[in-house]
Amino acid sequence: MAIALCPLEQLVEGQSRGFDPHGVGSDTVFALRHGGLVRVYSNSCPHLDVPLEYRKDRYLSADGQRIICYAHGAQFLPLSGECVYGPCLGERLQALAHHIEDGWLMLEHSKPGGREVSRSPIHRIRTCD
Ligand code: FES
Repeated sequence: MAIALCPLEQLVEGQSRGFDPHGVGSDTVFALRHGGLVRVYSNSCPHLDVPLEYRKDRYLSADGQRIICYAHGAQFLPLSGECVYGPCLGERLQALAHHIEDGWLMLEHSKPGGREVSRSPIHRIRTCD
């Protein structure tokens, strides 16, 4: 069973949004649209396992070209989640499986400890588990 995050139209090109799909009281997941493609990541920096954003929905650099961890300034590529600058250089954000259903961005359930990868545009997302 998948969890609805938001209508896809609310995820605007070059912007990001945070979500609390499990109702824990903080955004544990964020999504972005870059080059027309949607990605969903766990809101956890590979450096110290802390949330990335500096305030609600602010995960991207001012030009929208990088995901930023505001703790120590690590920079990640928006489509792969690879760290290209900072203390976790070469590591990756955890990409989460998702799909579009009736115009909604849906988060697929993840296995505890499982690592999921999203590389496909918009439609169906493969996992490597
Ligand atoms: S916790 Fe993200 S760069 Fe240090």
